[in-house]
Order: sequence, then structure tokens, then C-alpha cells
Amino acid sequence: MPKRSPDHPVGARQRRASRLPASPAPDAPTPLLGGLSPAQFMKRYWQKKPLLIRQAIPDIEPPLSRDELFALADDDDVESRLIKHFRRRWSLGHGPFSPDELPSPAQRQWTLLVQGVDLHNDRARALMERFRFAPDARLDDLMISYATDGGGVGPHFDSYDVFLLQVHGKRRWRIGAQRDLSLVDGLPLKILANFQPEEEWVLEPGDMLYLPPHIAHDGIAEGECMTCSIGFRTPSTNELTSQFLYWLAERGMGTPPATPELYRDPDQPAVEHPAQLPPMLVERVGHVISKIRWGEADVSSFVGSWLSEPKSNVVFDTPERPLDEVRFAARAAKSGLTLDRRTILLYDSRSYYLNGEQYVLKEARKWLPALADSRSMDGKRFVTLSPDSSMTALLHEWYCAGWIRVGVLA
Ligand code: SIN
Ligand code: CO
Repeated sequence: MPKRSPDHPVGARQRRASRLPASPAPDAPTPLLGGLSPAQFMKRYWQKKPLLIRQAIPDIEPPLSRDELFALADDDDVESRLIKHFRRRWSLGHGPFSPDELPSPAQRQWTLLVQGVDLHNDRARALMERFRFAPDARLDDLMISYATDGGGVGPHFDSYDVFLLQVHGKRRWRIGAQRDLSLVDGLPLKILANFQPEEEWVLEPGDMLYLPPHIAHDGIAEGECMTCSIGFRTPSTNELTSQFLYWLAERGMGTPPATPELYRDPDQPAVEHPAQLPPMLVERVGHVISKIRWGEADVSSFVGSWLSEPKSNVVFDTPERPLDEVRFAARAAKSGLTLDRRTILLYDSRSYYLNGEQYVLKEARKWLPALADSRSMDGKRFVTLSPDSSMTALLHEWYCAGWIRVGVLA
């Protein structure tokens, strides 16, 4: 079900320093991927074909209870949808939903989808951490669906990679690699007109199904159930191009000259057809546009800034009574630092991209990539930075913005 907005390898040592659940090292076989290592999974399945994994996470507990999920769906800052399939008719509503707007759990065939749960709940964020064998730049969000018996969102396809992890109850999945992705006209949901399933499984808690983009699928609850979808964005060429052009325009073309170069047409003859666009004008505009240049550094800046930008509904919680820089440094030296669950921190060989902002920090090369990869830094590591007051000041600034927190998650 399209949920994102088309209508929207990491050092093992660094990982151990963090108390967040580690994603498996690239070459370590893992139950999460059915005994494959992440390297094998990426080579054989990622973006290529579906994989069913029984007991990917044995003894899984839903990150949220049903009531907690319903409470989240009642929040203005949370994206949620309610899909009913009563009397063979599909209906779609957008949240927030107060508890009395949701059908009774005793009623069959409805589903509540709550998007971006990782932004609101540390347990959901921790679950998502396990999937960081794929780059953060591709990671989108963790969605939770709650369904009553017979509930689902209908046969459809998605435009992203997804791990469908069953966390409570059972769901029957049917999938097919059909080419015909035409949709039924006139429905509020994108439902495939000719769904041709080729495989079918019932998933139980802990089981997981990986689907690459455009695989047709339909999941129907068998009794009350909850599924977590860990989704990876796959922007379309159109989206990439338009976002880059927008970024280029926003960034501007550098400092404008004191006397800007103006359009000139000293050779323009008098016209008989005033409404007609002069071909010479079009040619000159074409010439100006053809001088727009960009290089690999511009593309990296765009990609890093764009992909690290928080979603539009993200609001960071700034500390109520922020510690001043001296107290902050003392506390960080004792308890370490953790990136806020909403923070996106990416880096390349030149820059860091933190929540949409680009930083060029040559002096941070020894520690900032490790903080980005492990999302936390212990107190001892912080102490080694404190002689550089500009770094402590920067981290304090990020703390005041709510982007990092003092302490490492237990
Ligand atoms: C999906 O098919 O993308 C997830 C739908 C669900 O969990 O109900
Ligand atoms: Co789907």
C-alpha cells in the first residue's frame, strides 16, 4: 500500500559501544535474514526478489500495545489512515482518529495504519536499528498496521523496499511478480485490477517477508494482528530531478554581480505579429540556461541535505531547562550522548548532513562518523573531545536544538 508520500557497514567495535540493538555485521549470518549474512542478502535478494524468513526475530513483542497505537493515531503530528472493507466496499480515512472514531476491535475487516512510529517511540526506533545493514540514506520509516480478522489494504504494489515483520497474531500473505500493475478505477485505495498471486504463506509473530518494489501483494489478517513495515525509500527519477532543480534554485547561483547581466536584443527588428515569441529570444534564453553547471560536490550536497531532511511533521523536543555548556560537558562526560530518535545524520568524504543542514568539519573526522554510525557516543569518548571547545560548543548547540540527548539508551 503506498504509504510514503507519492500521494505521497559499520565497525563492530563502534556498535558494541552503543547500547542500541545492533544491526548484524555485513558478513555475520543472522536469523534476521534466515541465516544469510547481510552481504549475502543484499547480493541475492535486495531489489531483486522476495524472501520469506521464518522466526527472523523469535519472541518478538510489538513495540506498542494496541492501546498505545490507537493513542498515537489520535495525535495531530502523526500520520495515520483507517481502511475499512465493510460489505465489500473499500473506504479510506485520514487521521487523527479519536478512540471513538475507530471501529470496535470486535468488528471484522478494518485496518489502522500508523506511519513513522519510529519518530514517536524509542522501541520502534530500536527495532528499526536492526535493519541498518542497508544505508540510512535509504531508510524511510517504520509503519505499524493493526487489523481485525479479515482486515487488510487489498492487493496492491508499493514503490519501495519493505520488510513486513509480523509482531502479533497471524497474517496470510499472497504475492506475485506480475507485470500488469493496472489499478481498479474509482476506488479511494490503489487496488490491483488483476491480482495473480503465485505464492502464499501465513506469517506468525517473528516471521518476516521482504519485498522489493513493485511486487504485487495482499496481506489478510487471520484474527486480530499487528504488522511492522520497515520501509526504504526509492525516489523516482522525476522526484530526484525536480528536487535537485529546486535545491539548485534555492541555493542560488552564488553572489549576484553588482550590475547583473541583463537580457539584450539590440538586433530585434520591428514585428508584424507582436504576440509571436521571437525565436531569437528563445535561443538566447537557451544559451543562458546552458551555462548552468554543477559538479559532483553539488550533487553530494544536494543528496546529503535532502535525504537528511526531517519529514514535514517532525518537531524536535528542545530540552525544557537546557544545561549550560559547562554542565552539558560534565554530564556528557559521565553519561555519553545519543542522537535523538528523529535525527538523521549522514556523511560523505567532505561533509556531514544533520537534519538537512550541511557541515564541513575537518576536525571532526575522528569521531563524528562513529557517532553517525552508532548513533551514540560513550562518556569516555566525549572526554577525548572536550579539549576542543569548538566541538563541545557545537554538540551543545545540537543538544539545545533537541537533535542529540545526554545519556546512552539502556
Ligand atoms: C503493506 O502491504 O504495505 C502493509 C500493509 C499492512 O501491514 O497491512
Ligand atoms: Co504494501
